[in-house]
Amino acid sequence: MESIWSKTCDMKKRQALDREIETEVAVIGGGMAGILTAYQLERSGVRTVVLEAERAGGGQTKNTTAKITSQHGMFCRDFIEKKGKDAARQYVRANQAAVEEYKRIIREEKIDCDLEETDSYVYSQDGERLKSEAGAALELGIEASYEHQVDIPAVCAGAVKFARQAQFHPLKFIDALSGQLTVYEDTPVKEVEENIIRTPGGSVRAGKIVFATHFPFINFPGMYFARMHQERSYVLALENAGTINGMYIGDGEDALSFRQFDRYLLLGGEGHRTGEDKEGGKYEGGSYERLRSAARELYPQSRETACWSAQDCVTADRVPFIGRYASDRPDWFVATGFQKWGMSSSMVSAMLLRDMICGTENPCAEVFAPSRFSAEELPQIMKDGGKAVKGLTKRFFHIPEETASQLQPGQGAVVETKNGKAGVYKTEDQKIYKVDIVCPHLGCELTWNPDEKSWDCPCHGSRFDYKGNLLEGPAQEGIHYE
Ligand code: FES
Repeated sequence: MESIWSKTCDMKKRQALDREIETEVAVIGGGMAGILTAYQLERSGVRTVVLEAERAGGGQTKNTTAKITSQHGMFCRDFIEKKGKDAARQYVRANQAAVEEYKRIIREEKIDCDLEETDSYVYSQDGERLKSEAGAALELGIEASYEHQVDIPAVCAGAVKFARQAQFHPLKFIDALSGQLTVYEDTPVKEVEENIIRTPGGSVRAGKIVFATHFPFINFPGMYFARMHQERSYVLALENAGTINGMYIGDGEDALSFRQFDRYLLLGGEGHRTGEDKEGGKYEGGSYERLRSAARELYPQSRETACWSAQDCVTADRVPFIGRYASDRPDWFVATGFQKWGMSSSMVSAMLLRDMICGTENPCAEVFAPSRFSAEELPQIMKDGGKAVKGLTKRFFHIPEETASQLQPGQGAVVETKNGKAGVYKTEDQKIYKVDIVCPHLGCELTWNPDEKSWDCPCHGSRFDYKGNLLEGPAQEGIHYE
């Protein structure tokens, strides 16, 4: 399942690290956050290298809907009520600055990446909520308004508009920008010890280290696994669905997202916690089918060109962690927890981390600090801890036995073997693949995801393909059956 971005951009290949090197800053992770951070640092005169386990932009960056906006759903009123107006102002100011910074970089570097300035909308059936949100956005200094008409076929009372946001092609952008930087691809980091990073091809001694790996893979210190969970959502690229002006997202869990790219309408939705359905039960699949059914209803003439899914890290207070990794690691920095807003959050990270590393005060740093205490975090940690315990203890319960020979082609299941449980998948041509179903991150039991043909961890969201290869962290290794 390849995103429309991967289908329409051939990324240049870069060399793997093959020797010992020294640098002022090493960025681990060559996605949008890592590349932008390296770019901002290099522009400030700081020698920086990027270490990417696979290909630049090959993780979540290729799966985004690539909306560049400071409108993160219906968030302004809520943010003010929970964290106060000062914190809300820091948040929107940093994100609006990020939108403008993308436009500036693309203009000044003359990057051909289908940039389009456009308005962003959050729609809802609740007119009072829309009015309140538009008022809150104005209080925070955003150019916002309540619009009664929208350009999408959604049942709603209108939308809150943020003017002059943007959308683009993320891989064309990252391909062009990373050409100016030192990026090592196929360079997985195996170990980080103080200021030394070890990879299969050589070590890096770095004055500062930035972890921009979607989900931080060092468990201690930081304990980010206990402070975030991961969610999945799905996107269809539709042809013959007409064209819309603006980027749209609905208010609420079941709402859909819309944006135009070239002749394609990108329709997104069906979010759920990784490994679980919306009600917290085992994920049984069907997300693509439900989204296709929405597409048929809204755009009966349309034709599907691509489908793909994205995975997002979510913090308890829904604000990213950007700043020092942990108090006892003064040279380590982190950028994670972007929810669905990876493009603007990546640029916020790059600008904040640049300032922190260069010793420049940034008035928006406090709201993103990973060391912040958040009252929402405690119940979330309890809940996530409960899920982790449930995932661990499930290993010892008996489950209905299903033998590999009973599986249908294309089906996966947990089966009893003489050595205990294993995950088994039968391909369309009847080949059987067997994997360990204990997550190598912290030991939860994996569940089968029939949509993606993957093994997903309900605890912190690691994913593996049916052959056992790692797809998403925080786990750092595959689940090959011994
Ligand atoms: Fe943490 Fe699986 S991702 S136990």
